[in-house]
Amino acid sequence: MTRPYYVTTPIYYISGNPHIGHAYTTVVADVLARSARTRGPAFMLTGTDEHGQKVANAAAEHGKTPQEWTDELVPRWQALFAAYHVEYDDFIRTTQARHETAVQAIFERMRQNGDVYLGTYEGWYCVSDETFWLESKLAEGRCPTCGREVQWISEEDWFFRLSKYRDRLLAHYRANPQWVRPRSVYNEMMAILEEGLEDLSISRTNLEWGIPIPGPSAGSGRGVIYVWFDALLNYVTALGWPDGERFRTFWPASVQLIGKEIARFHTLIWPSLLWSIGEAAPELVFAHGWITVEGQKIGKSLGNAVDPFALAERFGADSMRYFLLREAPFGSDFSYSEEKIAQRHNNDLGNDLGNLLRRTLTMVQKYHSGIVPEPGERTSLSMRFADPSTHLGERVAGLVTQLQFREALEAIWELVTALNRAIDERKPWNLHKEGRQHELAALLYDLCQGLRWLAILLHPFMPERAAEMWRQLGARGRIEGDWRQSLAAWGDDGSLPPGTAVVPGDALFPRIDLVSA
Ligand code: MSP
Repeated sequence: MTRPYYVTTPIYYISGNPHIGHAYTTVVADVLARSARTRGPAFMLTGTDEHGQKVANAAAEHGKTPQEWTDELVPRWQALFAAYHVEYDDFIRTTQARHETAVQAIFERMRQNGDVYLGTYEGWYCVSDETFWLESKLAEGRCPTCGREVQWISEEDWFFRLSKYRDRLLAHYRANPQWVRPRSVYNEMMAILEEGLEDLSISRTNLEWGIPIPGPSAGSGRGVIYVWFDALLNYVTALGWPDGERFRTFWPASVQLIGKEIARFHTLIWPSLLWSIGEAAPELVFAHGWITVEGQKIGKSLGNAVDPFALAERFGADSMRYFLLREAPFGSDFSYSEEKIAQRHNNDLGNDLGNLLRRTLTMVQKYHSGIVPEPGERTSLSMRFADPSTHLGERVAGLVTQLQFREALEAIWELVTALNRAIDERKPWNLHKEGRQHELAALLYDLCQGLRWLAILLHPFMPERAAEMWRQLGARGRIEGDWRQSLAAWGDDGSLPPGTAVVPGDALFPRIDLVSA
C-alpha cells in the first residue's frame, strides 16, 4: 500500500486581502493532494496565521480588535480557495483552541527538556516579516528580506536552543540532499548552517495578540509566544499532535510547500522544533518561486496586488490553475500578465484541448449517431500511450510526485497533440465519404478513449473542466478514481463502453479577447 500522503501550504497572514500568490501555493498543494488521492489516502492542510504584530497592526488600522478583524477576513481566504477549486481536508486557524492548547503544551515540554530558557534579547525586529535580525544581517539598516525599517527591541525573552541542533541539521542535510528543494535553496541553507546558528527568541513581551506564555506568568500580561514559533507548529497541531489518529497516520509530511522567502524558518527552525519534541522532520520542503510583476514579487504591501477573484472570474479558475502550473518550471519565479494567461487559455486550452473534444463529439454525432463505437485493432495510439514501458499515466504520476508540473502537463499534451494529429492525418470526413466505416469507427473509438484518458489525467490540474469533459463524453463512474484501474488499459474500464451516448455541450474554454473584454 502507498504510504499516506500529507501536503501542507504555509498558513497565510491575515493582514489584508488575499492575492494571487496565496492562491498559487494552495492550488499547487491541491494538485498534489488530488493526484495522491488517486493512489491512496491523502491529506491536505491549509489555513491562516492570525497572531503577531503585523496582524495586530492591521486590525488597529481598521479600528477593530484582532479577533474581529481575523474573523471577518478568514472567510475571504476560504472563498478564494473555493473559487480556485481547492479541496482541502482541513483549514487551521492559529486562534483555534485546538492549536493554542497544543502550542502551549509544546512550549511547556521544551521548557522542561531545557530547550526553552529565559534570556535577554537585544536586537532588531522586522514587523512585516515578523523576523528578528542580527545587526550584521541588515541591508543598509533595513530588513534584508523586505527592505522595510526595523525596530530596536530590548527585552527579557524566552529562547529556543536552536544552536544545539546545528550539528544534527548538518548531518540531516548531508544525509538527505533532496530534503530541501530546489538545490539553490538547499545550498543557501547549508551556507547559513556552516556559519552557525544563534538561539531564537520565541516570546514577545510587549505584545498581547498571541498565545500567552504558559506557566507561572500565564495571563499576567507578561507576553505572548513569538508568532513564528506558534505558526510553524500548525502543521502538527492540525493533525492532533501528539496522539491524534491523523497525526499517527500522516506525520511526517510528504511535502511542505513554501515560498522561498520563508525557507529559513521551515528548513532550519522547523526541523529543530520537531526534534526537540521527539518528532521526525518532514520528508520534503519545497520552496517555490515568486509570481512577479515587472520583476517585483506580488504582495499587498508592494501595491501591485492583482485581485485573484477577478482573475478566476474572467479566465475561469481552471484556466488560472493551468497557467500557474504550466507557465514556469516549479521553483522558478515567473511574471504574471493577463496577455500570458489569455494566450494559454486560448491556445493550449481552447484550440488544442477544447476543440479536440468538440471536433470528436461532433464527428461521433455525425458519423455514428452520437454513440461510442466498438474498438478496432490495437492502434499506434494505444501502443504509444498505454504500453507499460511508456505508460502516460505512470509518467504523469511520476512527474507530479516529483513536483515537475510543467513537465507533467507537457507529457499530457503529447496525447492532446497525437489525437489532434490523428484527426488531421486520417481525415474522418474522407473515411466517411469513402465508406470505410470500420476504420472510421476504430478512429472515433480511439479519440473517445484518448479523451477519457485526458479527462482523468487532467483532473488534478483542472478538476471542474475535466469533470465537464467527462460529462460530455457520457462517461460513467468516478473520474477521480484509482489510476491503476482507470488507466490500466487504453480501452474500456467500464466507464466509457461502446454504445455510450455522448453528450456534447458548450465549448470547454470559450475564447477570451483581451481587447474587447
Ligand atoms: N504567515 C507566514 C507563513 C507561516 S507558515 C508556518 C507568511 N504568510 S504570507 O501570507 O506572507 O505568505 C505566505 C505564502 O504565500 C508564501 O510563502 C508563498 O507561498 C505565498 N506567496 C506570497 N506572495 C507570493 C508571490 N508573489 N508569489 C508566489 N507565492 C507567494 O509568510
